[in-house]
Amino acid sequence: MNVYDSLRMADVLAPLGYAPTASPDDADMVILNTCHIRERAEEKVFSELGRLRLVKEARAAEGRQTVLAVAGCVAQAEGKEIFTRAPYVDIVLGPQTYHRLPEMVALAARAGGGVLETDFPAEDKFDHLPESAAAQGVTAFLTIQEGCDKFCSFCVVPYTRGAENSRPARAVIAEAGRLVASGAREITLLGQNVNAWRGAAPDGGEWGFAELIRAVAALPGLLRLRYTTSHPRDMDAALVAAHREVGALMPFLHLPVQSGSDRMLAAMNRKHSVADYLRIVDELRAARPDIALSSDFIVGHPGETEADFEATLALVRRVRFAQAFSFKYSPRPGTPAAGAPGQVPEEIKDSRLQTLLALLRAQQEDFNRGTEGLVLPVLFTGPGRKPGQLSGRTPYLQPVHVQMRSLGPLSLIGSEAEVRIVRGHPNSLQGVLESEKMLA
Ligand code: 5AD
Ligand code: SF4
Repeated sequence: MNVYDSLRMADVLAPLGYAPTASPDDADMVILNTCHIRERAEEKVFSELGRLRLVKEARAAEGRQTVLAVAGCVAQAEGKEIFTRAPYVDIVLGPQTYHRLPEMVALAARAGGGVLETDFPAEDKFDHLPESAAAQGVTAFLTIQEGCDKFCSFCVVPYTRGAENSRPARAVIAEAGRLVASGAREITLLGQNVNAWRGAAPDGGEWGFAELIRAVAALPGLLRLRYTTSHPRDMDAALVAAHREVGALMPFLHLPVQSGSDRMLAAMNRKHSVADYLRIVDELRAARPDIALSSDFIVGHPGETEADFEATLALVRRVRFAQAFSFKYSPRPGTPAAGAPGQVPEEIKDSRLQTLLALLRAQQEDFNRGTEGLVLPVLFTGPGRKPGQLSGRTPYLQPVHVQMRSLGPLSLIGSEAEVRIVRGHPNSLQGVLESEKMLA
């Protein structure tokens, strides 16, 4: 989502004459777009700011100004504390106010810095942003929903991104259409709770997420549609049916579960049980038997016992994930879990994380090896690392490197072709183009 936000900040600043540079040394303005979700986020920002201060000073010595802005969720959470610790910062802005960047830049120029915009504005930034301009390439992101009303015990998102808010279907479809016109063949719909999307339908009624998916998937020229991140609570029957019926909807779903223990899920205020999660997985697999699943896990949430952790391992063994992210719990200031009793010692978190990572890694390797010998449609996204290679993605989001034997393979970028998978590595696949194989 921050990648998407950064692109939209570039859109908003383009009319002022700003364009992206390759290095901060060449930049008249530097925006740090920050994430606050885990682990010492603030410290990373302040150490990066220390480096940018030197850039700003070096440029000033040459008579060049540098506007320094901190955006995103660390800015939202830290607010004016950033000016206290880093007075050379000019602008601090939260994720819901970046449509006002042009005003802030003007204000910072007049006032010599000190511009703070972290209130949640009454207006919706999406109503005030220019139409997205930057072509994103073959695969593109599109934010359709922001914020969260779920208040998991450990999570800072409801405080930094604000309440759940869905963009109207008409705006989403129009933006998707522009992305396709500028070369996108795959779109990933984004939201903190993307499947909680519920918004104005083009005809004035209301749509749920499944209806939006059907409308976007129908855009001519769009080959693939994905969405992330989902909450189990919002996986309804209509969405499961969309997985059965919408061909462009890829058979891969990131569905965070966080823990396999009902006791922990309750402590985390997740609002779903292990049985709920397993039922959803069964329904999805019944609807789309080849669907591959990914998830997020937290180990060492306050109160987690060895038995709770074992229950997480049992859930992982039962579901079998194609891919997953796991994290050590890290206290986020202001969240309920940060002050909860039963904080888990660092060594225990470390050892649980290693155990879980090993299990998940083995499942990912199995999944990748399981595609050896299959012929899969691959969407080619660019040249590969080695000469004569192209890289792309399978429907299951695995990166694939395809060795080309004939000339002109670059023309395949942006299209889908059948690839026979010859090797499944831990993090990627190797394949050969079926048609080339036939010619050979
Ligand atoms: N500590 C560790 N992991 C966290 N996540 C969110 N907050 C925390 C935290 N305080 C993880 C969750 C979420 C993912 C985006 O980040 O697993 O799904
Ligand atoms: Fe955070 Fe929970 Fe909301 Fe996800 S559902 S953004 S983990 S509070």
